[in-house]
Amino acid sequence: MTTHPSRPTPGDTGPAGTPRSRVAGVAAGLETARRRTLALTDAEDAELTRQHSPLMSPLVWDLAHIGQQEDLWLLRHGDAGAQGLLSAHVERLYDAFEHARSERVTLPLLTPAESRVFVADVRARVLDDLDRLEERDDRGDDALFPHVMVEQHEQQHVETMLATHQLREGAPLLGVGAALPPGRPLPSGATPEGSVLVSGGPFVLGVDGVDEPWSLDNERPAHVVDLPSFRIGRVPVTNADWQAFVDAGGYDEPRWWSERGWSHRREVGLTGPQFWTGDGSRRRFGLLEPLPPDEPVQHVDFFEAEAFARFAGARLPTEQEWEKACAWDPVAQRRRRWPWGDSAWTPALANLGGEALRPAPVGAYPAGASAYGVEQLVGDVWEWTSSGFEPWPGFRPMVYAQYSAPFFGGDFRVLRGGSWAVGGSSIRPSFRNWDLPIRRQIFTGLRLAWDVDPGEGA
Ligand SMILES: [Fe+2]
Repeated sequence: MTTHPSRPTPGDTGPAGTPRSRVAGVAAGLETARRRTLALTDAEDAELTRQHSPLMSPLVWDLAHIGQQEDLWLLRHGDAGAQGLLSAHVERLYDAFEHARSERVTLPLLTPAESRVFVADVRARVLDDLDRLEERDDRGDDALFPHVMVEQHEQQHVETMLATHQLREGAPLLGVGAALPPGRPLPSGATPEGSVLVSGGPFVLGVDGVDEPWSLDNERPAHVVDLPSFRIGRVPVTNADWQAFVDAGGYDEPRWWSERGWSHRREVGLTGPQFWTGDGSRRRFGLLEPLPPDEPVQHVDFFEAEAFARFAGARLPTEQEWEKACAWDPVAQRRRRWPWGDSAWTPALANLGGEALRPAPVGAYPAGASAYGVEQLVGDVWEWTSSGFEPWPGFRPMVYAQYSAPFFGGDFRVLRGGSWAVGGSSIRPSFRNWDLPIRRQIFTGLRLAWDVDPGEGA
């Protein structure tokens, strides 16, 4: 297993690189997430209370649910029977297991103003408690884990709210997004020439709390897995690659699709990625713009990704393959904390944090490459894998026991790497996301993989 001399917390260093205490780092991480939440809910009440899509909650539900979870896990330490800041019947409105997204708009939710007051009240108490934790010098990872778990929960809802904004009709509310580094010409990741070889052999899959204290239950424990050799795309599949699939009639050729995928494609009439207009443009946060050819394709579902891969003479990677290509250093025979090494994320290494409002062009992050030379594994687009969502051997549920376990074995596919919309503190090479194979309002794309002859990877 790996060991790390220091285990940075989110926001571990201040803006000038000055060291912060671990508690201050955790508080800073919570505040970063909150700035994003408030920015995405800084809109007219009607925008926040409307249901922009049956797939999504009204934004005002996400806002108060973020506060409700923070109240539950940080003020009541997960004891749902204890009295929180909301009355029990109001709190129930924000139980994600009790109310499907499509029905949340019909509930007597808190107003936007009431929701803002509530989340600010919870946060003020949480920060007071953190101050006391610091005074007691009680800064162990175990004491801080729930705080970072809650921060990651808020960051996940920020991404969900961005998906809601993307589905929303009407004039742009979020602008065009921050500048990104330019791409550079590389062979297409949809061809074997644009792939790299990952030689067969054992590696360490997953992580332990001692190395990644903020990892969630489904990422643990670290264990050795032996994989045969495979090739994997150096970069994700782009809009130009996908346009070639469309132009070749890929959506009308059942032979590229699985049986389930083809039946879904016919049932809902898929003809291209969501938000493509069919004339070389796309809608992005209320803007109509030409499709950037060298940007990773996004808003494709698992069935489309699988069909594209077959069309390209390839397949989707398993999540084990994906994680090996991302985190394993075959020379040092150890995991890296990030594809590029153990140093913390910076905007020069990967497109995270949501400011860009889009993926970066392929080739934009040579310094972010993994030990195998695979680029843009973290950030830009979530990457579909062929894997269902199952526990690693030795799985033990965390304090929020319902986070992973109810979903194991369901009709989900695992997504890896995070998108441009993900907070920098809530993604890791071991991080596992999962969703239904028909979902594509999330910021999903793909990377291809190929089997290799046993001789090639020796
Ligand atoms: Fe949630």
